Amino acid sequence: MGSIIKEISKMFLEFFYKKKHKIIKGSSLIPNNDESLLFTNAGMNQFKEYFLGYKKSPFSRITTIQKCIRVGGKHNDFKNVGFTKRHNTFFEMLGNFSFGDYFKKEAIFYAWELLTDSKWFNLEKKKIYITVYHTDIETYNIWNKDIGIFKENILLIKDKNNIIYNSDNFWQMGETGPCGPSTEIFYDLGDHLKGNIKNNLGNRFIEIWNIVFIQFNKNLNGELISLPMKSVDTGMGLERISSILEGVDSNYKINIFQKIIKNINNFVKTKDLENNSLKVIADHIRSSVYLAAENILPSNEKRGYILRKIIRRAINHGRILGIKKYFFYKLAKKYIRDIDDREKEFLYKKYDNIIKIIKNEEKSFNEIINSGIILLNKEIKKSKNNYLSGKQIFFLYDTFGLSPDLIEDICINKKININKKEFIKYMDIQRKQSRKKHFFEKKINLYYKNKISKFNGYKIFATYSKVLDIYLNGISRNKINLGDTGEIILDITSFYGESGGQIGDIGYLEKDKENIFQVYNTKKQGNLIIHIGKMILGSLKINDYLYSKIDISYRMMISRNHSATHLLHFVLRKMFGTYVHQKGSLVTNKYLRFDFSYNNSLELKDILNIEKKINNYIFKNIKIKTYIQKKQEIKNNNIIALFNNQYDDTVRVVDIKNVSKELCCGTHISNTQEIGLFIITKFLNIAHGIKRIHAFTHNLALEYIQKQNKNIKYISNIIRTDEENLVKNILLDKKKINILKNNIKKLEEYISSQEEQTLLENNILLNNINLVISKIYNFNPKLFSYIIKKLLKKFTKIIIILSTKWENKIFFIIKISKNISDKINAIEIIQKNLDKNVCKVNGCANIAQGKINLSKDKYYFFLSKIRSFVLNKINKLI
Ligand code: ALA
Repeated sequence: MGSIIKEISKMFLEFFYKKKHKIIKGSSLIPNNDESLLFTNAGMNQFKEYFLGYKKSPFSRITTIQKCIRVGGKHNDFKNVGFTKRHNTFFEMLGNFSFGDYFKKEAIFYAWELLTDSKWFNLEKKKIYITVYHTDIETYNIWNKDIGIFKENILLIKDKNNIIYNSDNFWQMGETGPCGPSTEIFYDLGDHLKGNIKNNLGNRFIEIWNIVFIQFNKNLNGELISLPMKSVDTGMGLERISSILEGVDSNYKINIFQKIIKNINNFVKTKDLENNSLKVIADHIRSSVYLAAENILPSNEKRGYILRKIIRRAINHGRILGIKKYFFYKLAKKYIRDIDDREKEFLYKKYDNIIKIIKNEEKSFNEIINSGIILLNKEIKKSKNNYLSGKQIFFLYDTFGLSPDLIEDICINKKININKKEFIKYMDIQRKQSRKKHFFEKKINLYYKNKISKFNGYKIFATYSKVLDIYLNGISRNKINLGDTGEIILDITSFYGESGGQIGDIGYLEKDKENIFQVYNTKKQGNLIIHIGKMILGSLKINDYLYSKIDISYRMMISRNHSATHLLHFVLRKMFGTYVHQKGSLVTNKYLRFDFSYNNSLELKDILNIEKKINNYIFKNIKIKTYIQKKQEIKNNNIIALFNNQYDDTVRVVDIKNVSKELCCGTHISNTQEIGLFIITKFLNIAHGIKRIHAFTHNLALEYIQKQNKNIKYISNIIRTDEENLVKNILLDKKKINILKNNIKKLEEYISSQEEQTLLENNILLNNINLVISKIYNFNPKLFSYIIKKLLKKFTKIIIILSTKWENKIFFIIKISKNISDKINAIEIIQKNLDKNVCKVNGCANIAQGKINLSKDKYYFFLSKIRSFVLNKINKLI
């Protein structure tokens, strides 16, 4: 599939290779260590820290082909997809990058040569149009004077709404981060198509290449901070350039999409191959496959939510086309089977998992959609004047995920009008609410000063260091005084900065005995390690030399937990298959937490088995080595590479000899025996298909076991049995308790019926109303209800007043059959006869109950008072 695409990508890399660029693999679709992005949206993402100067790139020129997703975040094409000829949720971006190497002139000359030279893409020069940021006269002159493009074919693009840098020709990675003016290259597909380059409308002019001159870093306050180094970032849509080179006027007409569209057409025969629904599905199958390949599971949050949205939108469009059966996962199968060899290895390995993820979601959404359609048909049946309100449509959309298009389609067929305006109003309200909710965490580039702090703390725990920077409340200072909390950056440090799920170190920075800063936490940002803490003695200033000492026992516990995490990861994959993937990890000095994908249930016996296996590795005293290795050398080795988008040529391997190898930058102990002991303390289901394990190691594991053991000993003592027979005896006791409970129940019923008999004997009948009033000695007030139930069955009009002394308190209840409670009111009887202070009562017209705080004499007096009050009331009813 897609041999032209293959050819074009090869040519692109080859061209830039000849221009001395290092060819590097695109990164994963999930950005590594960058919370400002949901998905990789451009080739430059993986180089963000190079552009910002946080790190130095090992190569000053790089070229890549990058898989991108543009759904959610700053660059979001979701709505356009299927309805334009050139937008895709998933696409590949060809890019060349310069980090402080060449700038505007070379970048433009390279692009021009590749596009127009007959050895390369050989596009017609006169069909090329250029846009330039309006103040970037240098770029304008390069195109016009050096390349020779006519003035008429170069457009200066202004800022929108007069807001500076708010322009299509000022590119920004996200709300924060690298940015700069850009120049875009367009291609004229011919005057048989409508279109206007000025506003980028219509289909005639197609944007093929964006060349960005990265010069600024945008911070959270929206300020642009100049970068010390000028860089180039370019991006050309592979599908778009393929459409031009294949001589077609739409991305969807290139070979790979045509194949998918034909496959869709096997499920439903439509003659109109330009149908938008076909395009939506063809696009979404690619993004779904690649997102599932990253092990993203459809859910209601963040990335999982986007995958769910994409799969469901495709299925909705399938329904619009009339496909009622499962089709989407079958298309995914076909897509992967037909893939070209560029992607074969990557997708084939993940085939089973991808199909499982898509199939599960298709299945569950089909069930929801079917219920939704049944409800829609009901609404249609009920509808007055052949009309459905916006609120009704919104409900169906919001609850069942039925797309408005599908609803509209069904309604048109049944000649029902719908109120779209009102629907949009509800959508807007929802959008505003969710925007507030999903505000993505951003980072402030507070520490940008182009400095580097070196970490030497894998084996060394104390270092002689120099103070580079001091920050108080985020503001740079020369000095930190006694009592101040702040952040300190050193040239070299043994403190590990929180990253990769491992928490940061704690310890002290000591200039001498009189000047000490206590480090509460250590964080990492780019190449900077930030010591966060408080000046507990004296003061420190920039350029001071000091001794930075980590808390070794704290670090040792973290390292034990980190190595134990690797063993856990390994054992899980060994027991349940390599389908198990890490979904999150936290390594602290107290415990480790590990989240992983696993669809089956986790039983206690599995947990015991995992513990046993891990402890066996611990007892065997296996060596743990860490070393740096060239990426190439580790290929085909059975290494768990979580951060597969690391673009450095070398990686750090943590090697537990003959057991596990994992790429990892964290700290570890040097042999498994140092872990001491491993105990799982909790195992939970945290989301569909995701499990979580909490575990302890070393002395904390021992403490945990001892605590459990102590509890067992206590319990054995309480129930007077030996530990051996504890469970058996508890079960036996439980059985006995149940029998006893039953016996008590029977006994209570018996006592109640006895009491009932006595009460009946004292029954007063007046005015056709029965009055039962009595005090019962030592009777559990819980049993009042038995008696009341029986009496109510016996008499139609009845007033029951019961009281008892039980556990040194007086309890009472007044119950009045409903048919007379409008005449005699239970709560009124109490209120009229008893002082509030002595009685806690609750109730209503037909029932009142509570506790009375009275001496014996007063209690008797109270009962007789009530008696006359009630009799009086009954008398008056004549
Ligand atoms: N990063 C630039 C873009 O994505 C090239 O358009």
